[in-house]
Amino acid sequence: MPTIEERFTEKFSGSVDWHRRGHELFAGGITHQTRFTSPFAVYIEHGEGPFKFDIDGNELVDYVMGNGSLMMGHSPDEVTAAVVAQAARGTHLGGATTHEIRYAEAVKRLMPSLERVRFTTSGTESTYLALRLARAYTGKTKIVKFHEHFHGWHDYVTPESGQALGGVPREVLDTVIVSPVDVAALDRILAEDDDVAAVIVECNGAHYGTFPLMNPNFLHDVREITSKRGVVFIMDEVITGFRLSPGGAQVRWDLEPDLTTMAKIVAGGQPGAAVGGRADIMELMAFRDDPEWDNMRRVPQGGTFNAQPVTAAAGIATLEAIAGGEVNARADAMAARLKDGLNDAFIQNEVTGHAHGIASIVHVNLGAECSCDRDLCDMPYDQIYSTMPAEKTRALRRAMLINGVDMMGGRAFLVSSSHDEDVIERTLDAFSQSLKDLRSEGAL
Ligand SMILES: Cc1ncc(COP(=O)(O)O)c(C=O)c1O
Ligand SMILES: [Zn+2]
Repeated sequence: MPTIEERFTEKFSGSVDWHRRGHELFAGGITHQTRFTSPFAVYIEHGEGPFKFDIDGNELVDYVMGNGSLMMGHSPDEVTAAVVAQAARGTHLGGATTHEIRYAEAVKRLMPSLERVRFTTSGTESTYLALRLARAYTGKTKIVKFHEHFHGWHDYVTPESGQALGGVPREVLDTVIVSPVDVAALDRILAEDDDVAAVIVECNGAHYGTFPLMNPNFLHDVREITSKRGVVFIMDEVITGFRLSPGGAQVRWDLEPDLTTMAKIVAGGQPGAAVGGRADIMELMAFRDDPEWDNMRRVPQGGTFNAQPVTAAAGIATLEAIAGGEVNARADAMAARLKDGLNDAFIQNEVTGHAHGIASIVHVNLGAECSCDRDLCDMPYDQIYSTMPAEKTRALRRAMLINGVDMMGGRAFLVSSSHDEDVIERTLDAFSQSLKDLRSEGAL
């Protein structure tokens, strides 16, 4: 019987040479730190609905879904039509456009807390801009982020985000306070330090909900504490925006943040992102016909491709589809079906582990007992860590790829409205088979 690694090398043999070429071109052979896979990366050629196809023509059910940006699957007709039509009419028009107006209106329609909006080209830029706005508004310097929460790769959000600190200036680190995900601890930090400009949070918990917010009122408590202390509350909805509900986490849970950061789904699969929120904060970016303000104190923002018309076209088409409600309802229903089936598979295969999650994100924890309600996992964080060492998640991802499914990081499924019952059944068969394969190799 060949090993999992031998079967992987056989099935994806066409990728081996591309992987070698990648190593000659890119540092580490990859273009995004989460694309590191062993023994080599699988090179994908094209995508269609819930599927993607690699260089060998293998069909894979895709749950990476553009790192969470493809709420309707690969290349949905209405988005493709909008993108193609706009690409033929100019990809950058070098001035204000009607596209950006309609784009911002489509975003605001879904998230009423956004009194003003600005566009950027990535989630990283959006959290960077939101923090700069918060500092300018409060006149304070420090930011508070939570343990393990990920907000992109710029200096201010790198500490304790699951990323290494190479190249981040010590002076910046001194301005970042990392809080445990605990209301009392946050309250203490804000009581003791009066130089905090903002608190930023991943709305469904660290790493798109891998570490759920265990206190269901946590976001409301953060809202209350930040209001009390005059600190800007930033909801990072890069993942949750337009996924946890058509209006994101804030509409689902009835919250009004001061600022919101968005990316991924907001741009319908194109490189785009946004920041929005209270007019009095956002207006710090406006010119005031006052040279001292305009040149010295205003909050600056550039960005060649902000709200470029192709991104605007994809964003509008996607957000208009989401506004109808069926896209989220469909993705959520398929995710629930997947989650139930995964939990049955653990029981049937007598493997310790479980699946949990809300809306259209399903997380898998291997190797630990948990009595949670399978929606909001309440396993202690230390125990969650123990279920996801890199060798285990890579092994699961490899086994699933051999069985025709690509998971997000070997520990989650990002479900879209293009996933249907048949595709979920195939996924569950692949999962059961992968558990058997891993067990027969002693990897479970
Ligand atoms: C919650 C959150 N914020 C910010 C980012 C950064 O977005 P981007 O990769 O577009 O820079 C991500 C990316 O996954 C994210 O999950
Ligand atoms: Zn649990």
